[in-house]
Amino acid sequence: MVGNGNGRTTKTDVSKTRIAVLGLGHVGLPTALGLAELGWEVIGADSNPETIASLKAGKSWFYEPDLEPLLKKHLESGFFTPTEDVDGAIAAATVLFVCVGTPQGDDGKADLTQVETIARLVARNLNGYKLIVEKSTVPAITAQWVKKTIARYAHVELRPNGKNGKRSRNQAVLPQFDVASNPEFLQEGRAIENFFKPDRIVIGVESERARELLENIYRPLQCPIVITNLTTSELIKHAANAFLSTKISFINMVGDICESVGADVVQVARGIGLDPRIGTGFLSAGIGFGGYCFPKDLRAFLHLGEEHGADCSLLREVERINTRRIELFLKKVRKAVWVPQGKTIAVLGLAFKPRTDDIREAPSLKVIQALLKEGASLRLYDPQAMPNAQRILPPEPGRVTYCRTAYEAAAGAHALLVLTEWHEFRELDLRRVRDLMEVPVLVDGRNVYDPADARKAGFEYHSMGRESVGQHFSVIVSAKPIARRKQTATLNKADKSNGKLRAIVN
Ligand code: UGA
Repeated sequence: MVGNGNGRTTKTDVSKTRIAVLGLGHVGLPTALGLAELGWEVIGADSNPETIASLKAGKSWFYEPDLEPLLKKHLESGFFTPTEDVDGAIAAATVLFVCVGTPQGDDGKADLTQVETIARLVARNLNGYKLIVEKSTVPAITAQWVKKTIARYAHVELRPNGKNGKRSRNQAVLPQFDVASNPEFLQEGRAIENFFKPDRIVIGVESERARELLENIYRPLQCPIVITNLTTSELIKHAANAFLSTKISFINMVGDICESVGADVVQVARGIGLDPRIGTGFLSAGIGFGGYCFPKDLRAFLHLGEEHGADCSLLREVERINTRRIELFLKKVRKAVWVPQGKTIAVLGLAFKPRTDDIREAPSLKVIQALLKEGASLRLYDPQAMPNAQRILPPEPGRVTYCRTAYEAAAGAHALLVLTEWHEFRELDLRRVRDLMEVPVLVDGRNVYDPADARKAGFEYHSMGRESVGQHFSVIVSAKPIARRKQTATLNKADKSNGKLRAIVN
């Protein structure tokens, strides 16, 4: 016997629980298929007819490793049923996972229109007990709004609660429902892996019934479960993404210092990360964080904190450091190629991170726009993200060329930029790349290569938070670094063009 959230007790027959996942995007689809794999009967609802048509045909509308085989498996097993009929899905299920988008509004606040729409749809389909599980990243107190909205639109007039939260005697009986917060911690590119091997599951609930239902759903995953109230659970998600973003901006700041004093940020990150109090994750310096989550969630958290009078200046700096990464990277490119105008620049990596085709808020796009504005012509390659990139940046002869391989992109280029750390870029034959290029300049925004390897392959190599190597001569930008460096005049054998005497500085 468990509670039903209204102080009464009731039996929950979990074996008959049907699940609906509302919204089949980067969070909803992996969640739906993960739950199907755990043996639950899942209805996946999305109002976009194209999404549903593609899913019914066994095709995911975005790239995510290991997703499609699972989709095909559970279309066949019958444990996953995609539908456009959101009302029908809500009516048919007991547990509703809300995975709709929470894009950023103009003022930095999360736009909760889709969450509200779902709450209203739940209200009109409240044909028995339902547990509404908020999975989308939402500002604190959204769950309370969802609860209030369902009550309002289910046409049950709730009088303002008394101090103890009990309803008064004459009040209409509210159809039973609970709202829970169960934030997702799935990373794009690892969503399926993350689903089955979570570090923890966070469940914010107000009733025993809701807690039991969710614990039962996740029990096979055998990981720590953190039970909290609704708002705390929402805060955990905000704080997790804000902390990870902070780690990234911190290491980027350290990287900038490393570069100016001749230290190596990769080694610093390892040296500090092996301390378990710090941890090695999210300490990769580079061109900054992008994607649909970190930039947006950071702003939403900032907005929430400032709205409530908290001092969020730390997060403002995290955001500022991240925004500046692009300009710092472009400075590096200009320093390496001198004048971008009229040069051919190869770009490896368009997705905001590897193992995804997602280009939302990808740092690559800002770098590309800036270089095009400066008159460079670009040869672009990404293993997965080119179709998405082409939608917003169509090919243009002589200006924007999409290539079939990294080698094709490098052909004839005056510089090669690495903007996403895809594994296949690590595996490239750097000598072959160098031979294909007009000028062997490599600017690595993700520290994919070992500077010694890049130099051995004949590159002038610039990376993030590490000293540049293989420069034929150094443009003196400040007296400080040059005084430290050993300067040797030597004939650079790698230069096939004219064999002039050059000063190697590194
Ligand atoms: C992030 C969180 O990691 C997930 O836990 C969370 O569920 C998700 O947001 C969400 O809120 O939905 P995701 O955006 O998919 O996941 O990708 P991350 O792996 O976190 O990377 C985010 C950005 O940070 C990428 O642009 C990546 O290149 C960058 N990053 C990451 C760094 O620059 N350095 C690092 O050390 C790690």
